[in-house]
Amino acid sequence: DWTMAGYRDEAIRQIREQVGDAHVICGLSGGVDSSVTAILLHEAIGDQLTCVFVDHGLLRQNEATEVVKMFRDNYNIKLIAADESDLFLGQLEGVSDPELKRKTIGRLFIDVFQKYANDIKDAEYLAQGTLYPDVIESVSFSGGPSVTIKSHHNVGGLPEKMGLKLVEPLRELFKDEVRALGHELGLPASFIGRHPFPGPGLAIRCPGEITREKLEILRKADAVYIDQIRKHGLYDEIWQAFVAILPVRTVGVMGDGRTYDFACALRAVTSVDGMTADYYPFSHDFLGETATRIINEVKGINRVTYDITSKPPGTIEWE
Ligand code: XMP
Repeated sequence: DWTMAGYRDEAIRQIREQVGDAHVICGLSGGVDSSVTAILLHEAIGDQLTCVFVDHGLLRQNEATEVVKMFRDNYNIKLIAADESDLFLGQLEGVSDPELKRKTIGRLFIDVFQKYANDIKDAEYLAQGTLYPDVIESVSFSGGPSVTIKSHHNVGGLPEKMGLKLVEPLRELFKDEVRALGHELGLPASFIGRHPFPGPGLAIRCPGEITREKLEILRKADAVYIDQIRKHGLYDEIWQAFVAILPVRTVGVMGDGRTYDFACALRAVTSVDGMTADYYPFSHDFLGETATRIINEVKGINRVTYDITSKPPGTIEWE
């Protein structure tokens, strides 16, 4: 009989067999996938694992601090916290094409991991929390022509020059299975239930050119929105919810004055695996209250819209 406990034991056995005595570097993002990957690897190979958490400057409010704290408090895993935000944001300056954003970010991730790998003795492998839907959606649709919807930055293998081999213990799993495995591994429920967050982070929630000003506004608006969702007890009903800051300023009035600030879009979807999704049917009261809060609390936004596109034809992210 298939059980998650059995899967876990088999995954641990396979990791040991693949890796031997070598050292593994694991990119930790704080999401469920990479957290489960890290903990599974730690159970399999203990001190032969070093995790690297890269702050690319495209994380949500307080995210870097929270993730590093949760790992340092709960696990005895070697963890390097790298602030590389100047590098990433510098290279992304003037870049507005979604695929170029992903390619740039993917390339920099490799550079950064390589840099840390060079300092670690016997580092031979890079572990990633790639899931089954990442693999198929990025590569091609079976049977049809090789159509790429979005080049997920964490799929497609590593350039030979990096000299590291891949370990991807979640490659056969869907999201709900990864969550069950996280549960099996004792990952805190609050962590298991976290909404997915894409590797390119806020870069793909900031259509067009990315600026530090826009990122700062986006972080604040997103924090208010998620706070609203939690307060109304809706977080666990939703697959993913976030704000996208739009590359357009609109005119508004506030008090006696005219404003000319950014518009934003709220996104919330239900889904089973991210492959298809329906927009979440918030009440008008919830939407109205949230719009008022964002406009009052976030300087730089004067208009809030709600995205009611499902997937397909839309995608979950805006880019
Ligand atoms: P889309 O926007 O393609 O998103 O409907 C489906 C799921 O994938 C996430 N996503 C990404 N994750 N790198 C990632 O690691 C990416 O480039 C990327 N693009 C989208 C998205 O957040 C959703 O969960």
